[in-house]
Amino acid sequence: MQRRRLGSLDVGAIGLGCLTLTAAYGTPPPDADAIATIHRAAEIGVDMLDTSDAYATGENELLIGRAIAGRRHRYVIASKFGNLRKPDGTPAANGRPDYVRQACEASLRRLNTDVIDLYYIHRVDPTVPIEDTVGAMAELKRAGKIRFLGISEAAPATISRAHAAHPMTAVQIEYSLWTRQVEAEVLPLCRALGIGFVGYSPLGRGFLAGAVKVEPGAGDMRRGMPRFSRDNLARNLEVLTEFTRIAAAEGCTTAQLALAWVLSRQPPVVPIPSSSRRPRLEENAAAASLAVSPQTLAAADRLFAADNVAGPRYAEIAARAVGI
Ligand SMILES: NC(=O)c1ccc[n+]([C@@H]2O[C@H](COP(=O)([O-])OP(=O)(O)OC[C@H]3O[C@@H](n4cnc5c(N)ncnc54)[C@H](OP(=O)(O)O)[C@@H]3O)[C@@H](O)[C@H]2O)c1
Repeated sequence: MQRRRLGSLDVGAIGLGCLTLTAAYGTPPPDADAIATIHRAAEIGVDMLDTSDAYATGENELLIGRAIAGRRHRYVIASKFGNLRKPDGTPAANGRPDYVRQACEASLRRLNTDVIDLYYIHRVDPTVPIEDTVGAMAELKRAGKIRFLGISEAAPATISRAHAAHPMTAVQIEYSLWTRQVEAEVLPLCRALGIGFVGYSPLGRGFLAGAVKVEPGAGDMRRGMPRFSRDNLARNLEVLTEFTRIAAAEGCTTAQLALAWVLSRQPPVVPIPSSSRRPRLEENAAAASLAVSPQTLAAADRLFAADNVAGPRYAEIAARAVGI
């Protein structure tokens, strides 16, 4: 696996998003399979594990803690804090310094480690100056509890202020063929400030890998996301048919072409596809060594131009919690 830099942090060019190793998009795999996937990831150079205290309300970090026991040194552990839900289920954030300290201690315990390599603000708390949240993270760094700082789903002005308070190693925002908002301002800003960029949901939450053919059911986080509603999904699936043809002509899978496209972007991006299944992890990792032709990348790029994608990435209520 080729390596990439996030600031001064060295990671495999493709990381493992761990969201689907516990309940997120339907039924998760048995624990033993999830742990075997994490072990296989290190063997093939996919060494960055991306989690959050929000995933399955801490169960995801606990699973990783069990998986890395005795092999902590083989992984770069990235986790996040501050992405909460109100009792009615609507999004909330907490960036208060006392909360940041508590959240970090709780994540360290669940992850069964002394230090989190990359610790992100998962959602920006609009009621707390970003400098205060980052100040608490800088204290955690001085105390040796985290190694590098990151920020997720923040607006360009917030990223700049956070970076001025303490250097940010990575910005993490959704980025894939069908979600490209970061190209206008965030990617140029990351390049200018020397901040690494981690692209989440690089497979379009499974869609670009051909894993979503019907409207997701109850218990699947994608239910309620506009692109997966029945009518929009039907239109998006028409585009996927052409994408499948383009990938087949290149001799790769659609998941691989979607990842090769992300890997081809500038400044360099580290995608973190989730997969709870070992064969898919291997298929995705292989995308880093494909030499996809520029013509194929350009055809995929044109195919998913914004006008061809039906529906925004988030429903309105969730959209209000990002880009702050
Ligand atoms: N910062 C944030 O706010 C934020 C938000 C969302 C996600 N994330 C991070 O980004 C990571 C990835 O995002 P994501 O899980 O939303 O979406 P994704 O990586 O775009 O897609 C994951 C989905 O694709 C399926 N899949 C993976 N490889 C496949 C393949 N080769 N063939 C067919 N299906 C395949 C997975 O199913 P199986 O698991 O069943 O294989 C899963 O349902 C997450 O794990 C998380 O770490 C961050």
